[in-house]
Amino acid sequence: MYRSHNCGELNASHINQEVTIAGWVQKSRDKGFMVWVDLRDRYGITQLIFDEQRTDKTVFEKAKSLGREFVIQVKGTVIEREAKNKNMATGDIEILVTEMTLLNAALTPPFTIEDETDGGEDIRMKYRYLDIRRNPVKNSLLFRHKVAMEVRKYLSDLDFCEVETPYLIKSTPEGARDFVVPSRMNAGQFYALPQSPQTFKQLLMVGGMDKYFQIVKCFRDEDLRADRQPEFTQIDCEMAFVEQEDILNVFEGLTRHLLKEIKGIDVAEFPRMTYDYAMKTYGNDKPDIRFDMRFCPLIPEGGTFEPKGFPVFDDSEIVLAINVEGCANFTRKQLDELTDWVKRPQVGAKGLVYVRYNEDGTLKSSVDKFFNEAVLKTWAEKCKAKSGDLLLILSGETNKTRTQLSALRMEMATRLGLRKPEVFAPLWVVDFPLLEWDEDSNRFHAMHHPFTSPKPEDIKLLETEPGKVRANAYDMVLNGNEIGGGSIRIHDRELQSKMFSLLGFTPEQAEEQFGFLMNAFQFGAPPHGGLAFGLDRLVAILGGQETIRDFIAFPKNNSGRDVMIDAPSVIDGSQLNELHIKIDFTS
Ligand code: AMO
Repeated sequence: MYRSHNCGELNASHINQEVTIAGWVQKSRDKGFMVWVDLRDRYGITQLIFDEQRTDKTVFEKAKSLGREFVIQVKGTVIEREAKNKNMATGDIEILVTEMTLLNAALTPPFTIEDETDGGEDIRMKYRYLDIRRNPVKNSLLFRHKVAMEVRKYLSDLDFCEVETPYLIKSTPEGARDFVVPSRMNAGQFYALPQSPQTFKQLLMVGGMDKYFQIVKCFRDEDLRADRQPEFTQIDCEMAFVEQEDILNVFEGLTRHLLKEIKGIDVAEFPRMTYDYAMKTYGNDKPDIRFDMRFCPLIPEGGTFEPKGFPVFDDSEIVLAINVEGCANFTRKQLDELTDWVKRPQVGAKGLVYVRYNEDGTLKSSVDKFFNEAVLKTWAEKCKAKSGDLLLILSGETNKTRTQLSALRMEMATRLGLRKPEVFAPLWVVDFPLLEWDEDSNRFHAMHHPFTSPKPEDIKLLETEPGKVRANAYDMVLNGNEIGGGSIRIHDRELQSKMFSLLGFTPEQAEEQFGFLMNAFQFGAPPHGGLAFGLDRLVAILGGQETIRDFIAFPKNNSGRDVMIDAPSVIDGSQLNELHIKIDFTS
């Protein structure tokens, strides 16, 4: 038996008991006649005491040579501490050691195994197993486990069945880039790793599984960001004989359950917002509604703006403002800095107009030359601004201006501390367009994926105005992040063929790539739909953060590399030969 207890559970009730514990040396203090060691494991830290008087001489000498992160097992008696530490679960006791076994020595770790470490990101990624010993990383992994367990419990109780789907599948041109795997037994042919189990879960519905879920790895070869990893995990779900409403109810229920169980927070019914409204009001389809600052059009879209000789506005399709409450006292320097901020290439605005609604009721703007105070007053009224507030205004082409103002809105919220991690504001965004036009390829792309069904009332527009067709598709948004998305699917072969043709597939291409699915639709496919949550994102946001890497045991860095195992890496010539791959390094 390596241990009778762990390092986090001993307290005053164990005093005088003989115990055996094991773990890592967090630190030791040698006072000559006395040595104290903090012994750590996953559960906590227990103080050990080696005493010249009371401890066996050889054990005492060995204690003096212990280094950081040595792995030891000790036997001893739980005694009351003289100087108690109220901040530690085990702070009332210590163990007077009688026996000690050195289980393994350790090199000095390249960074301190403390909550606040001296190690930078790169070195911690290289020695991720050491980073995992630190509380912040360890706790994130435990937190993730807790969320995953709650998800499994909730869905199983509702009769969802977890089914595994294959990882070696067929490459398809839709969506992000695939990671591909060469087949040794089929020269020149490749599998792809799934971007999601989408078609398989639909086939499970054709197979009569009725309610499916899977906590599953997905792979996408796309550029990385704080909320994206090349391999990530979905809570993937599908249900048969459902309408959109049924799905929203089940997964709103799941999210509410998680918020309650994990965070102890009761959330009211989730607001629902159409895609159109979200774009007009927040400039993006994943609005953070923990704070207001909704867009206020000074030129209503499609309306006209009486020319005032201010060319920037006169030449604009749209003029949009946000009201930043209580910020009329921003200094000229702060406003200049904000102007520079919106002009950065990442945002791309040409400039920023502001109106200060001063405490004394006067209004002052950066465009006083063109607009008198009466006009400014009408703007303030439109934006429901009051004295003390600041209007920030951008103008230009509609979509660009919305995107830029959305970035400014988020930036202002961050600067003003309005994006509080302990506040949770979920919502559904619904009625997404079915298709979006892609300028580069000069064709429509499926906004969600090609299996999403159009709204029945919009099917008639498929031939005439495909860009106007709305989908039975929905996203769940939490604190400005898309944490899940899904749709009601097409389950009819005809409609699915029409969809592929709209997306530019020839009938032969559609057959070659998705024939298996369209065939299945001919064998009694039930109406079905579903959704997938991004587990990494969900866990990170519930944990009050937005960087998913911290919640993944062995993540990739920003270049998609695992710096610990050094992957990806070259493979040797014989392996390439076996896979029938020739690499021409000259091109
Ligand atoms: P979608 O592509 O919207 O839908 O993905 C679902 C959710 O997965 C998360 N996600 C990611 N998380 C981390 N890193 C990534 N690279 C990444 N990409 C996506 C997001 C997203 O909301 N098959 C459909 C679902 C369905 O229709 O049922 C799908 O995959 O949180």
